[in-house]
Amino acid sequence: MRRPLIVGNWKMNSDKAGAAALASAIAKGFATAGRADAAVCPPFVYLPLVADAIAGSAIALGAQNMCAEPSGAFTGEVSGPMLVDLGCRYVILGHSERRQLFGESDAVVNRKLIAALKTSLTPIVCVGELLAQREANQTTDVIQSQIAGSLAGLTADEVRRIVVAYEPVWAIGTGKVATPEQAEAVHLDLRRMLATRYNDQLAAETRLLYGGSVKADNARSLLACPNVDGALVGGACLKAEEFLAIIAAAN
Ligand code: 13P
Repeated sequence: MRRPLIVGNWKMNSDKAGAAALASAIAKGFATAGRADAAVCPPFVYLPLVADAIAGSAIALGAQNMCAEPSGAFTGEVSGPMLVDLGCRYVILGHSERRQLFGESDAVVNRKLIAALKTSLTPIVCVGELLAQREANQTTDVIQSQIAGSLAGLTADEVRRIVVAYEPVWAIGTGKVATPEQAEAVHLDLRRMLATRYNDQLAAETRLLYGGSVKADNARSLLACPNVDGALVGGACLKAEEFLAIIAAAN
């Protein structure tokens, strides 16, 4: 019922030539890799050339962030309509690096989410706890409060259009991946939260991605969890073979 979705978050990596080469290799390999949905989210400046490189393939384009305003005097920002104009289908919102390094609160994520939903973009909303919070048994509370704040005021019809990514902060870029049991437990919690806030059908239909040190060799066991519907991949998405192997594991 829920199609697997594998998203590559390139973060602030690559250069022009590398971006074109990586996107082309992924697009070329995807034809034979399988049936899961897949997307690449390069830095803003490489979106047009990556769009060209993946044109004609089933790989979708996404961005890593956007402004909550549609246009105007917001120096240095990029809007949702601009992303749509460049061919983006997805936008990552509330990534922990945005939250931790650029001060994005749940309220900011909420404003961006509302703005994204006014466009054709599919927002990928990220939540996740710090190591200290997990060790203090606060994981469920933290996720609950991030969901409540990020999704504040949204209707079921709006939330039906989003993807949620669970990215435990302690697993991001550390090589310390959550066990399938840890990921599954939080994903089950997330589904319960969505059922309580909205309804069972919405909870059952929402795609929940896991992110944090996903690699080709651990993807299969994570993706085998009944409530893990895909992956948000950082480091491992910068190598075409590795990213394609993760997509293959989702089939
Ligand atoms: P890593 O896969 O490098 O741990 O990064 C995960 C992530 O933050 C994806 O958004």
